[in-house]
Amino acid sequence: MIKKGKKLDFNISDVVEIYSGPVGILWEMLMGEQIHVGGENETEILAKKANISNANSVLDVCSALGGPARYLARKYKCRITGLDATQKMIDEAIKRTEKENLTDFITYHLGNALDMPFKTSTFDIVWGQDAWCYTTDKNRLISEANRVLKNGGTIAFTDWLQVGNMPEKELEALNSFMAFPYMETLEGYTEILKDNGLKIIEKEDLSKDFAKHCHKYQKMLREDLKQGIIDNYGPDMFKIADSGLNLWVKAADEGKVGRGRLIARKE
Ligand SMILES: C[S@@+](CC[C@H](N)C(=O)[O-])C[C@H]1O[C@@H](n2cnc3c(N)ncnc32)[C@H](O)[C@@H]1O
Repeated sequence: MIKKGKKLDFNISDVVEIYSGPVGILWEMLMGEQIHVGGENETEILAKKANISNANSVLDVCSALGGPARYLARKYKCRITGLDATQKMIDEAIKRTEKENLTDFITYHLGNALDMPFKTSTFDIVWGQDAWCYTTDKNRLISEANRVLKNGGTIAFTDWLQVGNMPEKELEALNSFMAFPYMETLEGYTEILKDNGLKIIEKEDLSKDFAKHCHKYQKMLREDLKQGIIDNYGPDMFKIADSGLNLWVKAADEGKVGRGRLIARKE
């Protein structure tokens, strides 16, 4: 049984402040405009597991720059609604979506994942990639996802997870670097989904792949992006990014933090 640490005092205003600044750009430099581990390949895997088709209406919770939404629109011709709390992310997502002529497929809404601005039973699929770790209450998040989901619909998501025990101080340092109030565990998410009446279709621990990607991002940061970050944002920004990422690389190698994929159905 993994012992979760205490909740840190990070909330939606911190997230908005962070993603209104250079952080979104830095993540895009590392991961691409699909800001999650594994990029387009991961979006394709999740889409297959969620059985997405052109008949579906999909809600992307924490849609950021809209990279995954545009991928799904191009490939599956489904309708997508992006929900994000940061105006800067919404504005950039709209701009890129207009540029790609995908506005007939995608709309974006500013709002909080914990209080979704949508009516009950609206979507066939509620989707999330590597962002729910920012929310202060995973139970409320899943309960909201379940509320806006139609009967027979699917919740499909990946998220960064706590996968091992560690001293409280270490967990605090890892979460603080990312501004996560806390991370869920794979079992924790499973229980929350079940408690909300959802049927678990699949749950996967992707932590080994997560550790590999952490090394890849560290190499990119140190070799390809270092000078650009120093030139644009100053040496302190590079130092903060490098030492924070280093903590994550170490913890991922030691099997303490990772990532999971969960698919659940509302029956
Ligand atoms: C890592 S990015 C998400 C990446 C995106 N899912 C993708 O795959 O490209 C995190 C995003 O989550 C949004 N976010 C965090 N907490 C949120 C909340 N409670 N409600 C809505 N959006 C939130 C942030 O504004 C930010 O744009």
